[in-house]
Amino acid sequence: MVEIHVCVVGCCKENGGLNIRDEFLRLAKQMGFQEEVKIVEAECLGTCKYRPSVMVTDGEKKYYYGMMNTDVVKDILKYHLGLIKDTKTFENNLVKVETDK
Ligand code: FES
Repeated sequence: MVEIHVCVVGCCKENGGLNIRDEFLRLAKQMGFQEEVKIVEAECLGTCKYRPSVMVTDGEKKYYYGMMNTDVVKDILKYHLGLIKDTKTFENNLVKVETDK
């Protein structure tokens, strides 16, 4: 299960957070991965500077993305589903990676 936390408050909301959430929802459904992906409306993720912000977790690592726009949503989703390996189209959006353990 891949969890995608989309910040939908504060300046992330003002900068399109809800559109980012909607695009993740739309694409997960269109691609037939509703069961594999959980999209969560998040409060502040602590990366406001990079708004709008998203955090993707596989249970082991947390990938924080910033400066999100709807164009990069599809590749980020595909990457975390293991459908693509190339991160070039969204490498500038990756802010940090944290390990839970
Ligand atoms: S308000 Fe979205 S990361 Fe802080």
